[in-house]
Amino acid sequence: MTLDTVMTIDDDLSRIGISLPKNLLDKFDEILNHRGYSSRSEGIRDAIRTYITYYQWMADVKGEREGVITMVYDHDQRGLLVTLTDIQHEYHDLIKASLHSHVSPERCLEVILVHGDGSQLKTLTEKLMSQKGVESVKLTTIQIESES
Ligand code: NI
Repeated sequence: MTLDTVMTIDDDLSRIGISLPKNLLDKFDEILNHRGYSSRSEGIRDAIRTYITYYQWMADVKGEREGVITMVYDHDQRGLLVTLTDIQHEYHDLIKASLHSHVSPERCLEVILVHGDGSQLKTLTEKLMSQKGVESVKLTTIQIESES
């Protein structure tokens, strides 16, 4: 693809309107400011590109894998702690160990050591991610070499 083609695609802009919680937007603006972005639109475009890259990277997690899931969540979210524990018990065959840190009165950080099939690890990650009160979940894995 030539540079001209890329520019043509990028020039073909669509306008969207989104609603965001104020604290989320404040945090986002703070990062944009810190990184020297000229406009909020530019920052949102970059954030969407990063999201797409992350999603595609997740799609490549296949085969036998070893890794960690890093999760940050709201300790005060009603029922969340029990739900997250239930999910981990449901996928107990993938989980080797977990480490919990009480970061602040209202936030928890959990690191889960995992081993197993890549697609199952993604399912587990997405299930944790979709719970209300979960701030972030990141899956990092390495491939287990099996070729002789
Ligand atoms: Ni905690």
